[in-house]
Amino acid sequence: MIPLIYAHRGASGRHPENTMEAFHAARKRRADGIELDVQLSQDDKVVVIHDHRLERTTNGSGAIRDHTWEQLKKLRADKGHGHPQRNRPRRIPSLREVLHTFAPTSLRFCIELKNFFHPQPHLEESVIELIHRYDLAERTVVSSFNFNSLLTVKKLDPRIKTGLLYVGPLQHPWEVGAQYQADELHVPEDQLSPSLVAEAQANGFRVLGWTLDSASRIQAAAQMGVDGIITNYPGRARKALAQL
Ligand code: G3P
Ligand code: CA
Repeated sequence: MIPLIYAHRGASGRHPENTMEAFHAARKRRADGIELDVQLSQDDKVVVIHDHRLERTTNGSGAIRDHTWEQLKKLRADKGHGHPQRNRPRRIPSLREVLHTFAPTSLRFCIELKNFFHPQPHLEESVIELIHRYDLAERTVVSSFNFNSLLTVKKLDPRIKTGLLYVGPLQHPWEVGAQYQADELHVPEDQLSPSLVAEAQANGFRVLGWTLDSASRIQAAAQMGVDGIITNYPGRARKALAQL
C-alpha cells in the first residue's frame, strides 16, 4: 500500500508555510493532502498559522489572539521567502478560505488544533462547523497535542477522524490513542519503527509519520508500512515512493 502524502504546512520546504501559495504548490506536486495549523483570532475567526505570535512568519508582531481577522488578513506571511510565485496570496489564510478553495478537489486535510500551550475556547466547534459546511468529514483528520481536545472533537462528531499527535516517547501509544478515542497515531520520525507500526495497526490505528523530508527516510517509512507521511517536500516524497 502506498502511504498518503500530506504536505506539512503546505509545500513549506519551498513556499511560505501555511499560505495559499504553499497549499496550491502541494496539490501541484501531487500531495494527497495538506497539513495545516489553526488557532483563533481575537474575534474568533479560525486562522491558519503555526506560531502563537506573528514575528517568525509575518511582518506583524504580537500574539495572534490579540489581533482581529481584519488586522491579520492584511499582513504578509512570507517572511524569509523570495519572489511570489504566480501571484498566489501569501497572507494568513482563514480555514474557511482553504476549505472553500480545495473542497471541490480531492485533496485531504489534516487540521492541527494549536491549543496545547494556549487555550482556544471552542476552537473544536468552530473547526467542525467548517468541516460540515464544506462536507469534508470523510477526507479530514483533526490532530492535536492536546489530547482532551481530540475527545471533544469525537463528542461533537464521532465521524470525524482524529490523530493523536505526540513528541515525547510513548511506550504504548496505541493505549493512549484508545484512551482518547483517536483513529490515528501521528508519530515523530525518530520514533517510527517496524514494530511500532505493526503493533499500532494491529490495535486498529492508522499511522502517520512526521516530518519526513529525505527520500531515504520516506522510503524507509513506506517499507515499515505507514499509512501516511507528513513532509515539507511532497514532490520529493512522490518521487521517492514511485521508486519503490
Ligand atoms: O503534523 C505534525 C506536525 O505538524 C506537528 O508539529 O510543530 O510542525 O506543528 P508542528
Ligand atoms: Ca502542524
